[in-house]
Amino acid sequence: MPTYIVLLGPPGAGKGTQAKIISEKLGLPHISSGDIFRENLKNQTELGKLARGYIDRGELVPDDVTIGMIRERLSRPDCKPGALLDGFPRTTTQAEALEEMLREFNGRVSAVPYIKVPEKVLIERLTGRWTCRAEGHIFHETFNPPAKPGVCDFDGSDLYQREDDKAETVVHRIRVYMEQTAPLIDYYREHGTLLELDGTLPIDQVTDDLLEGLEGRIAA
Ligand code: AP5
Ligand code: MG
Repeated sequence: MPTYIVLLGPPGAGKGTQAKIISEKLGLPHISSGDIFRENLKNQTELGKLARGYIDRGELVPDDVTIGMIRERLSRPDCKPGALLDGFPRTTTQAEALEEMLREFNGRVSAVPYIKVPEKVLIERLTGRWTCRAEGHIFHETFNPPAKPGVCDFDGSDLYQREDDKAETVVHRIRVYMEQTAPLIDYYREHGTLLELDGTLPIDQVTDDLLEGLEGRIAA
């Protein structure tokens, strides 16, 4: 049976950072809805053109578009063992659609690590984030600096600051998260799959807690 893990948490909680570290360890592809949208923006696809306005304003892309995109991605052969989802679902409608599509794939959500971080820390993290142009590797100018400023440690490509990481957009993204995504905390708590983590700890400590929490919750 395939294993699906959903990483939940506000913008800047460290979902992408942790997913990049644990995806290989778990043998599951990292599926980030935000990364797929950004790839489409870069390649100026129809999906990218549609999503741009929403992303730049810090709003959610409409559910039907996002659900269709994820369904297509999860249908690809590399997702046969399951997936580590980052940034999806983000609304109750998306969570219900995910359950339905996973039934088709003979799977279900096994665990939902919820990375908790207070709002003040989130703003500091996002306004100091630097992202790698080639592969989306994630750095922070103070908390996780690259060896050479502006250059990715992993592939040598340029680092850039995301358009939606401006302070005013960040504040709006956090508001959108509180209104539309935070209800999923109770949704998954009721399903018995929520795993709460302290996201203010250092990156490697969060990774240890995450892997320890997943033990026993996912099929070996
Ligand atoms: P998306 O790209 O998913 O952004 P997000 O959810 O807002 O989350 P972030 O990527 O900003 O944060 P993260 O938790 O990954 O943190 P990170 O690891 O980078 O979505 C972007 C947009 O796409 C949305 O606004 C929306 O428009 C659209 N979209 C995407 N999915 C959608 C969906 N399902 N439905 C509709 N629309 C959708 O870490 C942040 C920083 O903190 C980094 O600098 C990092 O180095 C640092 N850091 C990480 N962990 C630690 C730590 N433990 N201690 C200190 N620093 C840390
Ligand atoms: Mg991310």
